[in-house]
Amino acid sequence: MNPVSHMAKPIRIIQITDFHLLSDPKRTMMGINTEQSFLAVLQHAWQHSDGVALYLMTGDLVQEPSIATYQRLQERLSCLSIPCYCLPGNHDDPELIRLSMVESNVHYHSQILLDGWQIICLDSTLPGNAGGYLTQNQLDLLEAGLVDQPKRYTIVCLHHSPLPTGSDWLDTMKLSNANEFFKLIKRFPLVKGIVYGHIHQAMDEQFQNLRLLGCPSTCFQFKPDCKDFALDQVPQGYRWIELHPNGDISTDVVRLDTVPQGLDVASSGY
Ligand SMILES: [Fe+2]
Repeated sequence: MNPVSHMAKPIRIIQITDFHLLSDPKRTMMGINTEQSFLAVLQHAWQHSDGVALYLMTGDLVQEPSIATYQRLQERLSCLSIPCYCLPGNHDDPELIRLSMVESNVHYHSQILLDGWQIICLDSTLPGNAGGYLTQNQLDLLEAGLVDQPKRYTIVCLHHSPLPTGSDWLDTMKLSNANEFFKLIKRFPLVKGIVYGHIHQAMDEQFQNLRLLGCPSTCFQFKPDCKDFALDQVPQGYRWIELHPNGDISTDVVRLDTVPQGLDVASSGY
């Protein structure tokens, strides 16, 4: 056994997701000031970022896409000395992210190469549709990344959940061609995990030797196992993930101490 690789440390990353920033940072959504709830999570994550290699931001960065809102987000992130990798959610405009998130530590890349691992980021959004779908172009991008790096363990990131959550209303918006996605991934056994946003709740399931990881939002949370839309009265949070040299993944969710001020749990729509 190589003593160096045996002793090697895991790569630690932080996933923060579904900020739903509004064009006016003073406004609220579901009773919450999404700007402040995002900043509270970012601050907590930042204070616990010793040894963190990068932040992963898995979509719904904004609720109201505009150059100005993305630039405001970029200014917040540019204060950090850690690379931030973004991908779009159904509320985002991928082209505006590409145009406006251009700070030196803020990236919109499809493939991130790390020591022994890679992260492949996909765009699962469909214009004008809340549900998810991977176009042939995105599936080709995934396949090319996996073929290109046959010796690296891989996690794949996207916005939409490929698995149902158990909430009927939310599952109408899951990745609609998940079968195609899983069929492709099955050909590459070094893919170890799928990481996503969108579901505004924690999820950690094993499926086909894959770890399927969903994450709380930085603002309002969806109540698990509900037929109709319902908010959960739990604090916002984020997920840390450690990628080990032997291909193992350790992970957990961290939540803040209190629910965001003003949360309107009686909200009836999303
Ligand atoms: Fe969201």
